[in-house]
Amino acid sequence: MAGPNTFFLVHLLSAILAFIQFVDSSTPWISNYIEETNLAYVKDSGICETVDGVGQYSGYINVGDKNYLWFWFFESRNDASTDPFVLWLNGGPGCSSMIGLFTESGPCTVNSDGKSTALNPYSWNNYSNILYLDQPFGAGFSTGITLTNSSAAAIYAWTAFQVLFTSDAFAKYKNHQFVLATESYGARFGPVFINHFNSQNELIESGELDGVKVIVSSLMINDGKHDPLINFQGLVTFAQDAPGYGPLVNSSVISTITKAFENTCRGLLQDCYDADISKSSGADTCNTAITTCTDDVMSPAVGDRDPDYLLASSSDNKVPTTSYATYIRLSEVQDAIGATLLSSKPTFDQCDDTTHALFSQSGETGKTFLPELSGLADSGFRILIWGGDADMKANWLGLHQSMVQMSWYGNQTLNDTALTNMSINGDDVAAFAVVDNFTFARVYGAGHTLPAYKPQVAQTIFQQFISNETIHSVETSVTGSSSAAGASSTASSSDAVRLQHPGICALVLIYFISRYSTRKLL
Ligand SMILES: *[C@@H]1O[C@H](CO)[C@@H](O)[C@H](O)[C@H]1NC(C)=O
Ligand SMILES: *[C@@H]1O[C@H](CO)[C@@H](O)[C@H](O)[C@H]1NC(C)=O
Ligand SMILES: *[C@@H]1O[C@H](CO)[C@@H](O)[C@H](O)[C@H]1NC(C)=O
Ligand SMILES: *[C@@H]1O[C@H](CO)[C@@H](O)[C@H](O)[C@H]1NC(C)=O
Ligand SMILES: *[C@@H]1O[C@H](CO)[C@@H](O)[C@H](O)[C@H]1NC(C)=O
Ligand SMILES: *[C@@H]1O[C@H](CO)[C@@H](O)[C@H](O)[C@H]1NC(C)=O
Ligand SMILES: *[C@@H]1O[C@H](CO)[C@@H](O)[C@H](O)[C@H]1NC(C)=O
Ligand SMILES: *[C@@H]1O[C@H](CO)[C@@H](O)[C@H](O)[C@H]1NC(C)=O
Repeated sequence: MAGPNTFFLVHLLSAILAFIQFVDSSTPWISNYIEETNLAYVKDSGICETVDGVGQYSGYINVGDKNYLWFWFFESRNDASTDPFVLWLNGGPGCSSMIGLFTESGPCTVNSDGKSTALNPYSWNNYSNILYLDQPFGAGFSTGITLTNSSAAAIYAWTAFQVLFTSDAFAKYKNHQFVLATESYGARFGPVFINHFNSQNELIESGELDGVKVIVSSLMINDGKHDPLINFQGLVTFAQDAPGYGPLVNSSVISTITKAFENTCRGLLQDCYDADISKSSGADTCNTAITTCTDDVMSPAVGDRDPDYLLASSSDNKVPTTSYATYIRLSEVQDAIGATLLSSKPTFDQCDDTTHALFSQSGETGKTFLPELSGLADSGFRILIWGGDADMKANWLGLHQSMVQMSWYGNQTLNDTALTNMSINGDDVAAFAVVDNFTFARVYGAGHTLPAYKPQVAQTIFQQFISNETIHSVETSVTGSSSAAGASSTASSSDAVRLQHPGICALVLIYFISRYSTRKLL
């Protein structure tokens, strides 16, 4: 066999050197590893998305000063070159978007063994290119400085898109229709991020800032915590008589939570709304308000129930499991997807308690999130506010009231508009109201992480929303939908994560060079 020529050797050496500079020398070799300026990822790991020809990228975005955001991107199963680009963010604050990927809207779910995956026929990448981002630092695999509010998080999210949209892999998506989809605490992340991106876009346009415009065209928020005061008030009504479910607690509990809301919670939250949280006394006021309301109103209303899902105890109902977390803690999975690029043993928690506590202590959690959303709604921005009607964390009565009480031109019309049923194959699955580009939807029988409970409904509404259609009833072919519903064409992870090892020669070279190169992360 002919030996490699000098050209090849030089390139092999520089590729290996670049690799060494990024990864810890103890990191195992990862196939399809690609490094670009400020971006390091694995291409087509074979994990999770198993549909032939559908590309995927997972890795870290360097947003400066040793701060790294973990992402996982899937091309559309339909037409990656023209379909919308979606950014998915879980809430918390501090929860990993891997929750969304594996239990809500991503290409696969993880089987109960925690070792293998099944194709999700209701994945949102059937119709879009979708990027799952762990943020802020501390959430999921992302690491970096500690942040305490969404405005600070927005700065790094914007930087992440500066890196992505100037990269070889992602620049092509910068002119695609960009949809931001989020849930729960995303009621704050979503509007704050879009407003920050928009003000950066203005600076770029006026020549004051050098960068890539990030133009978000629509926002969808499911089970959002838009306004604590309206949410807790809605919860009292909801506990008394949840539409479709009836009373959730007995009259003595109703009396307890009504008193707690009226006598303490309401006043504390109003004080918080008036407080200046840039001062520590204001932050304390808000932290006290949110923790008191949670303890005195939410906890008794929830009792022994699963606050995520009213129907959790009935055996025939699907509750998302945490087997996905077992799966992405497997070292062979972490190696395959590039999670080990920064550290050979990354830790993974669904939600980072520290981030949650810090956002609460900063006062942000107690504040209303509506002012950031109202400007967007008032400008005719395309918005979907939707929620599962079996969710107690963000009860849908509170969601609807939040939109009615938000300051925007459509609030009166929304209040006056009865919800209309939407059906799939004749079954009523949701009820919605539309005011121009604004849509509100209640999804029957869904819990807090809505798409996890009603994947087909969620995918259908998602598809209609990103296609700029008004939400409407559909008939799907019965055979098609039943086979999809029962889909469990399990793709064994052992096939998926089989790694390609480099030749002994490359291993020796890595070892050799690593001893003489200073380790420098990108
Ligand atoms: C989504 O795409 C997968 C893979 O191509 C396919 O098996 C599935 O039927 C699609 N789902 C729907 C609802 O069309
Ligand atoms: C957010 O936190 C940063 C520090 O990380 C602080 O400088 C800023 O004032 C805070 N912003 C808001 C709106 O609270
Ligand atoms: C009401 O429900 C609470 C919580 O489940 C329980 O402790 C209490 O005994 C009940 N009260 C009555 C009068 O049933
Ligand atoms: C709805 O959105 C479209 C597309 O952005 C826009 O052209 C239209 O003016 C919006 N409608 C309203 C009533 O704001
Ligand atoms: C509805 O929005 C308007 C601004 O368009 C605001 O003045 C009004 O107070 C809002 N209504 C409610 C009930 O909050
Ligand atoms: C909304 O409509 C209800 C009647 O359905 C009415 O009692 C209430 O005052 C209205 N609220 C607003 C803000 O217009
Ligand atoms: C909407 O669907 C629900 C659930 O099936 C049903 O109870 C209700 O009567 C329907 N409403 C209308 C107006 O058809
Ligand atoms: C939907 O409307 C947006 C403008 O808000 C536009 O950029 C996009 O191309 C439209 N998408 C489709 C699928 O029509």
